Amino acid sequence: MKAFVGIRKGLEVMAVILTVMLIASCSKKNVSDNPEALDTEKENVVIGFSQVGSESSWRVANSESMKSALSEENGFELIFDDAKQKQENQYKAIRRFIQQNVDYIVLAPITEDGWDDVLIEARKAKIPVIIVDRKVNVRESSSYVSWVGSDFAWEGKKAVDWLEDELELRGMQENGINILHLKGTIGATAQLMRTEELEKGAAKHDNWTVVGTLEGEYTEAKSYELTKEFLETQKDIDVVYCENDNMAFGVMRALDEAGLKYGGEDGIIIISFDAVSSALEECLKGNISLCVECNPLHGPRVMRIIDQLEHSMNPPKLSYVEETLFSYRTITREIIDERKY
Ligand code: AHR
Repeated sequence: MKAFVGIRKGLEVMAVILTVMLIASCSKKNVSDNPEALDTEKENVVIGFSQVGSESSWRVANSESMKSALSEENGFELIFDDAKQKQENQYKAIRRFIQQNVDYIVLAPITEDGWDDVLIEARKAKIPVIIVDRKVNVRESSSYVSWVGSDFAWEGKKAVDWLEDELELRGMQENGINILHLKGTIGATAQLMRTEELEKGAAKHDNWTVVGTLEGEYTEAKSYELTKEFLETQKDIDVVYCENDNMAFGVMRALDEAGLKYGGEDGIIIISFDAVSSALEECLKGNISLCVECNPLHGPRVMRIIDQLEHSMNPPKLSYVEETLFSYRTITREIIDERKY
């Protein structure tokens, strides 16, 4: 049955690739990497992709997925721009894509706010914009055609529900619970939603206290540095809620250096988001107690949206990816072996 589903999925992906290649061979657009040479003729569907940066293992896997789906073999020319975690760089990239007269702009926005002007410029230039991963908070919803990404609120809620159950299993549901919270990039949907769900959970339980909130920017280095400093004055921690895996790695390093035990059935509970394979390895060892999945493989999803647009079909405005949880109690080697990133 599994093999049959795999073959069917493979055939579906092939079908999308073939259709996009066919469309690409029929469509021509004057475009070039160099805005000064707008007359160069290319036959592929040209995509300008503004990526956040390479702050995390998730992001690296996401860039790979976009590059391999939007490849020349699949009928695309991908102009990839790494914004290095700076919104100004994303503005510049989008304006460059408009000058280059690309067929589509794909934007993975760093934060939700601040997109109205530049997206309206793209709309005026009649270049459809597809948003991927985090969302944009815009006045006019017609500023973009479609968004695909994770349900970050669902992820945060599931993490909090799991924590309630885990504390009960440990007989700690009535204890005072000290939580250290590592936030991702402030203003990113993943940060806003995961934070909101933790705050709702803490508000619901009088015995849960968020004893520290650190801005780890989704990176291991920053999270290590801030946690190390934090632990110099406060060591009484029961739970660390890390808004991605890389931040959990930095936290683990700082906890090791401070001689604090984490993991297993009686150590500090570490919760992280993404579930990349190196984090799942830590979960199997019992060091990370819960990995909440955040799926980065958006390349084929964006390709499907473009395929629909090329066929004058309306793709869904919002498409949420299905995800799951991996806890140290249930994770298996087979699960990790299947992980491709
Ligand atoms: O927006 C998705 C988040 O961004 C991932 O959880 C994180 O690892 C990445 O940098």
